[in-house]
Formats: sequence, C-alpha cells, structure tokens
Amino acid sequence: MPDKNHATVAVTGVTGALGSRIAARLAGHGVPQLLVGRSPDQMPELPGAQRRGPAAYADAADMRRALEGASTLILVSGHRTGRRLEEHATAVEAAIAVGVDRVLYVSLVSAAPTATYLNARDQWLTEQFLAGAGIRHTVLRAGFYASTPAALANEEFVVSGPATTGRAAFVTHEDIAAVIAAVALDEGPRSEHDGATLEITGPEALTLDEAVTRIAAATGRPYRYEPETLEEAFARRWRLGMSGEQIETWISWYQAIERGEVSVVTDVVPRLIGSPATPISNAAWWPAPNTARGTAEFRRKRS
Ligand SMILES: NC(=O)c1ccc[n+]([C@@H]2O[C@H](COP(=O)([O-])OP(=O)(O)OC[C@H]3O[C@@H](n4cnc5c(N)ncnc54)[C@H](OP(=O)(O)O)[C@@H]3O)[C@@H](O)[C@H]2O)c1
Repeated sequence: MPDKNHATVAVTGVTGALGSRIAARLAGHGVPQLLVGRSPDQMPELPGAQRRGPAAYADAADMRRALEGASTLILVSGHRTGRRLEEHATAVEAAIAVGVDRVLYVSLVSAAPTATYLNARDQWLTEQFLAGAGIRHTVLRAGFYASTPAALANEEFVVSGPATTGRAAFVTHEDIAAVIAAVALDEGPRSEHDGATLEITGPEALTLDEAVTRIAAATGRPYRYEPETLEEAFARRWRLGMSGEQIETWISWYQAIERGEVSVVTDVVPRLIGSPATPISNAAWWPAPNTARGTAEFRRKRS
C-alpha cells in the first residue's frame, strides 16, 4: 500500500531503461506515482502507481491530463528529434498548468551549447528553459551510461570508435535512478537541491579500452576495443547503413570522451545514496551487442 505521507510523483520514460528503474525505486519506498508516457500498456505494473496516457511530451492536452494530481514531475529526457526543447518545454508547461510544484529534469553530463556530444546540446537548452520557467526544479545530469559500450559492440564483441586516451566516468542506470529517487524523496517545501545541477557519475574515469576490458572480465565474453581514425569511423558506419545524422551523433559521443568532456568524477552518488558509486565491473546489466539506439535500427532501414 502506498505510504500516505508521500506526495504523488509523476515519472516519465517508464517504458525505458532509466525511468523504469526510477519508478521501481519510488514504488519500493511506497511513493504514489503517475506513470506517464506514450504506451501505457507497455508500462510496468507497480504498487501505488497509476498508468497515465497515451501522452507524448509534445502534446500539451494529453500531458496536462496525464499529470493531473502530481506534486513532483520527474522528466526523463526524450529521444533526440530536433524538437527536443519544444517537447520538454511543453511537458513542463503542462505540469505547471495542473499545479505540479517541482520538476526533476534528467539531463546529460557535459550539457552545454557547444558540447562535443551532439545529444548534450539540446539538453542544455531544456536546462535554460527550466531556469526561467518559474518552477522549483533540480537538474540531474546523468553521466555516460556504463551499459553503452556493451550496446555498441558488434557481433564479435568489438567496440570501435575515434577515441584513444580520453576518459569517461561511466555510471550505471541503477546509481542514476537511486540518486534521482533520493532527490524526489526529499519532499519538504524547500530542498537543498532546489535550483541545483547535480552531475551523476561513476567512481572513476576510464578510457574506452579500460572500460571494455572490464566488461569482458565481468561478463566472460571477448569484448575488445579497437580505436579508429575519424575517417575510418565515418566510412565504416556509412557502409553499415547508418544515416549521416546518426554517424555524426555517435562519432561525437567518442569525441566527447576523447576531449575529456565527460571525465569528471563527482561525489553525488555517495553523498546522496550513502554508498560508493558502482564500478563498471559490477554493473547489473549488460545490453546485447548492436543494441545502441541509432545504430542497429538504422542499419536495418538502409539494408
Ligand atoms: N547518459 C547517457 O549515457 C544516455 C544515453 C542514452 C540516452 N540518454 C538520454 O536519457 C534518456 C533516458 O535514457 P534511457 O536509457 O531510459 O532511454 P530509453 O530506454 O530509450 O527510454 C527513453 C524513454 O523516454 C520515453 N520518451 C522518449 N521520447 C518521448 C516523448 N517525446 N514523449 C514521451 N516519452 C518519450 C520513451 O518512451 P517510448 O517507449 O514511448 O519510446 C522511453 O520510455 C534518453 O531518452 C536520452 O535522452 C542518456
């Protein structure tokens, strides 16, 4: 039974890897939840949670209906569409319109207007929008996922890209979800996290070679990392059938690592959840090869 002492939290992205983990944690704490998204029939069944929708971020009326009754909105950033700011802004405005008083926005580490990783640029735009939206909010910048190198591997467990010595502080989905749940559970009328930007990272910054070697040791599978030149990286992805935009986006992921833009290690995980951040070797989840968004699916489209 939901604990009546908790205010209702709306969580988006619950059909995905991160939102589902956040919602499961909040359910474990007895928080009443509204699970909001485009496909209610694919949402998890959780104690104390109502499924709301279909509601896409860009649909103001559906979002208002879905968010009715929530005090806090946890907004998991949507997929990159070229209109992500508009989509996120519409979702936040819908929340304000129905009386939500706090937004926790899941952004991306290194978010900046000139970020090397293209996905981090419109995350920054949403952060700027939120800063001026007139609602209590916290920005939770997720580090690069510990799961991504495994998802980027090919059928032979080879991960290849244009990065050699650069490092990333890879973080697990579980640690990100635990931090976000901890901030959501800080429910007073004021919180030290109001207006804050928290960068959620793993415990150490690893090169891709180190990260992939650790994934191999943890899984017993023959993952290995092979650096590519920029030219090799473009040409190989093109031959695989990826679109120009997807090639550019994935190459920018490797280059952000190479340029040191995602290597900072913060104390956010230990400070907020009271235990050390999880090393990549202890991640609970390794996606299958060729499952990174915008790689396998684009290969299928052009083949
Ligand atoms: N930190 C990192 O390394 C990293 C890596 C990849 C992505 N990200 C970002 O973090 C977000 C969450 O990551 P994840 O691992 O949970 O991704 P995921 O498994 O792909 O889940 C994304 C979730 O967002 C929902 N969503 C996307 N666009 C939406 C829209 N316009 N309106 C309503 N719902 C929408 C999806 O719903 P549907 O089921 O309806 O599609 C899904 O539930 C991603 O969406 C992306 O912005 C971060």
